[in-house]
Amino acid sequence: MVDGPRTNSNPHTTTTAGSPAPSDEQSLSVGRDGPLVMHDVYLIEKMAQFNRERVPERVVHAKGSGAYGTFRVTNDVSAYTCADLFQPGRETPMLARFSTVAGEMGSPDTWRDPRGFALKFYTQDGNYDMVGNNTPVFFMRDPQKFQDFIRSQKRAPQSGLRDNTMQWDYWSLSPESAHQVTWLMGDRGLPKSWRHMDGFSSHTYMWINAEGRKYWVKYQFQTDQGNDFLTQEEAERISGSDPDHHRADLFDAIDRGEYPSWTLKVQLMPVEDAEQYRFNPFDLTKVWPHADYPLIEVGRMTLDQNPDNHFIHIEQAAFEPSNLVPGIGPSPDKMLLARLFSYADTHRYRIGVNYNELPPNQPRVAVRSYSKDGSMRSVPPNVGAVYHPNSYGGPDVPQQEKVDQASWGVESGELVRQAYTLHRDDDDFVQPRALIRDVMDDAARSRLVNNVVGHLSSVDDDGVLERALQYWRNIDAETGDRIAAGLGRG
Ligand code: HEM
Repeated sequence: MVDGPRTNSNPHTTTTAGSPAPSDEQSLSVGRDGPLVMHDVYLIEKMAQFNRERVPERVVHAKGSGAYGTFRVTNDVSAYTCADLFQPGRETPMLARFSTVAGEMGSPDTWRDPRGFALKFYTQDGNYDMVGNNTPVFFMRDPQKFQDFIRSQKRAPQSGLRDNTMQWDYWSLSPESAHQVTWLMGDRGLPKSWRHMDGFSSHTYMWINAEGRKYWVKYQFQTDQGNDFLTQEEAERISGSDPDHHRADLFDAIDRGEYPSWTLKVQLMPVEDAEQYRFNPFDLTKVWPHADYPLIEVGRMTLDQNPDNHFIHIEQAAFEPSNLVPGIGPSPDKMLLARLFSYADTHRYRIGVNYNELPPNQPRVAVRSYSKDGSMRSVPPNVGAVYHPNSYGGPDVPQQEKVDQASWGVESGELVRQAYTLHRDDDDFVQPRALIRDVMDDAARSRLVNNVVGHLSSVDDDGVLERALQYWRNIDAETGDRIAAGLGRG
């Protein structure tokens, strides 16, 4: 391997191979007015490189941005997890990316949509990713429905247009979406900025302490800037005049030295509670009310460093719920289990099999993996041999027990395609009704009604509209009646 200075003392433009470029003004032609020649390799390099500048955009969450920062532990939760990043006194460098879900890379930041809240912690035990949203629940509880759901929210195949009829057709045929749709149509569906929203793991995860004791856990990153929202009218105005509003807000705040921060709090459930809890604790359409499992503070994340290159650090960032570390594991949440496959798979397609060598994804600890080669590989395996076992000092897995601790008991039996076991209070409408009745005030309820009326007013299928009104009446009769009246169907 040849070492050399990466900074070239030559002030002139070069080709990508570092040799002097011939001209950025004139192509090479046969005489002044003659045809161009193929051996103008610099022209060809510029055209070819340009043609390959884009990587595929993320299939969902395409529009977003983020920043680097630090997570600092402020409370001792070592009784519940031995995860290195949550031990007293720890400070862990991290990357955050916020996003909308359905819009493409150039879409406005202020369309009504859930917001992605993706975090990568560069821990002493490797990368830990918490890939959440700004809502504590999701539209479904079985991953079979994810692709269909996303297609109903994106563009219609014939017209290439977003289509509210498709959206309400899907939602009104999928009652388990009611809780997430109520969040989405309320104030939290349009945060004032990414700095003014909370982030949630949404899923239940497992925490394991040093003695091997297990807890089910849900995360909530509470914004220290205060929750704030845009009205539908404000958001529509900003969408037209400043489509990158949220991206600019985060970048400019950090640039000014106003570093946004979030306080991480968790809800912890002893594993023995899960079976008898009134809601199925792994159902992603449900929350655990704080009265049942109060919030416990863990630490604070602060974002204080803008990326020096958006493409390298944000576009090529690869978050994956499968990046777990000792002390933290998955749960029987079927959505989470499917996501453990999906993200690494999409990264291999979108940015290549060696995506973990890219700067935002590189672990800050030594990687000793027997994986080798593949497109764009630049780091040789750090293991002395490319197979295991070997006689040449390659690593083995001394921590197997610690790593494999994140397990839970399952009943043996036939393979089935069946919904989760229902718990005592499981019902698709109980929690969204409580959100409307107990959490929203009169003004928030009125905004919810107006937002839904606005959204439904472009639904052009009478059957879908009727079903959507019934959906809202099932959630809350009065709210459903107000929406119907707003549409002239009272
Ligand atoms: C992005 C799949 C559910 C949060 C993505 C991407 C895929 C995907 C393929 C694109 C990743 C990339 O190209 O980098 C799925 C599947 C799901 C699911 C199959 C359900 C079975 C969820 C849920 C949440 C979530 C429930 C939140 C709790 C995110 C976020 C991103 C993302 C935040 C953007 C990550 C980033 O900033 O790069 N998802 N998703 N997804 N998803 Fe999911």
